[in-house]
Amino acid sequence: MNEKTLKVFFEIHQGIPRQGPGDSESTKKAFLKLVDLPLNIKILDIGCGAGFQTLDLANLINGKIIAIDNHPLYVDELKQKVLQKGFSDKIEVVNADMFTLDFPQASFDIIWSEGAIYIIGFENGLEQWKSLLKQGGYLAATEITWLKPHPPSELEEFWNANYPAMQDVEGNLKIFQKTSGYKIIDWFVLPESAWWNYYYNPLEERVQLLKKYYQDDAEALEVINMTQLEIDLYRKYSEYYGYVFYIIQKLSN
Ligand SMILES: C[S@@+](CC[C@H](N)C(=O)[O-])C[C@H]1O[C@@H](n2cnc3c(N)ncnc32)[C@H](O)[C@@H]1O
Repeated sequence: MNEKTLKVFFEIHQGIPRQGPGDSESTKKAFLKLVDLPLNIKILDIGCGAGFQTLDLANLINGKIIAIDNHPLYVDELKQKVLQKGFSDKIEVVNADMFTLDFPQASFDIIWSEGAIYIIGFENGLEQWKSLLKQGGYLAATEITWLKPHPPSELEEFWNANYPAMQDVEGNLKIFQKTSGYKIIDWFVLPESAWWNYYYNPLEERVQLLKKYYQDDAEALEVINMTQLEIDLYRKYSEYYGYVFYIIQKLSN
């Protein structure tokens, strides 16, 4: 994306509750799969966005969450929410790049990443972030995943063009197995409502609004129409793909 299209992309995503599929129930369900955690947990939330899941996690734990994102507007938005909710002792929001995280080794009991590990790539993320986890620590991440074979061609073409690395569950489990030092704990598919309630419904409202605003701007309209196409494809073909929560544990370095 060039500077202009990136600006429009963030404009579409501005002010909506989440920046990707997810819901509080799924965050809690994944968290409850983690056992033998210390009393004072330390979590790194990578690609936190406006922090929907960060606040959910803060309600579930005693301890500290460092939430990082490289988009300044999300970082500011979450900082505001942290102040409003009185979570200043529990959540620290940092503008940082997930590719160059600079924390001491074995700093965290949990690395959490909803809808963001795809940016660094599953395999790469598992390798690069492993040293930040304590022995026995967990990585919980959501990732868009094929759920059914032989998707219709228009769907396959869209995702092949936009995220060719997308795997089925089997494919992702294989990635975990071949990345040394991790054990698969569990995985589950997020409900379809987790796509609509906090993400696609409000996103579609923004799309409608901005379509009017940018009616004479072909470059902006291309980004807007692409977002609408993504939403329409999910509406039509949600049985073929979904968001999956993967929970894995670090056993060794
Ligand atoms: C799909 S959103 C998910 C946000 C949030 N976790 C959620 O589920 O609502 C991906 C997030 O990753 C952030 N991001 C993109 N590239 C990044 C990078 N290199 N380092 C840190 N964050 C990044 C984006 O700004 C965005 O907030």
